[in-house]
Amino acid sequence: MKLVRVLAPLVLTLVASAAFTTQSLNAQSPGVYSAAQASAGAKIFAAQCSMCHGVKLEGISGPPLAGGDFMSKWTGQTADDLRDVIATQMPLTSPASLKPPEVLQVLSYILEQNKYPAGETDLTAAKTKTVKIAKQS
Ligand code: HEC
Repeated sequence: MKLVRVLAPLVLTLVASAAFTTQSLNAQSPGVYSAAQASAGAKIFAAQCSMCHGVKLEGISGPPLAGGDFMSKWTGQTADDLRDVIATQMPLTSPASLKPPEVLQVLSYILEQNKYPAGETDLTAAKTKTVKIAKQS
């Protein structure tokens, strides 16, 4: 009986913190994409996006894809909204030419460049719906 009384609050605390982690995806949460995805995305970005969006995502003929203005514009939307733009409208010269895994790789790279941390598992299309765009500290 005594042991239960000691353990019960501990279990409750663990459950509560697990719920918190899945609900608020921010800089303190586990990463939503893998480092391998982001580095594959960096190669795609350099070859197919940087000529318009800049090698540092600072924007040239296309808008910036990293930094304060970009994050402000997208705050409140999800990574799925961003994924949709990339999948259907980009690259501007050849829309919808990236394969779905490539879209997720380039999206992972954009998240990485906006200070989202890498995690242990790959970003999936389903997961993008749970990722809120918000400034990472
Ligand atoms: C030929 C130039 C060009 C290329 C190449 C290009 N883009 Fe774009 N991109 C643009 C322009 C211009 C816009 C703005 C379109 C608009 O507002 O209607 C844009 C918009 C975007 C947006 C939305 C940005 C925002 O804040 O609304 C994303 C995300 C994006 N591009 C990602 C990519 C990715 C990823 C690639 C490479 C796979 C890519 N683009 C390749 C020109 C380009």
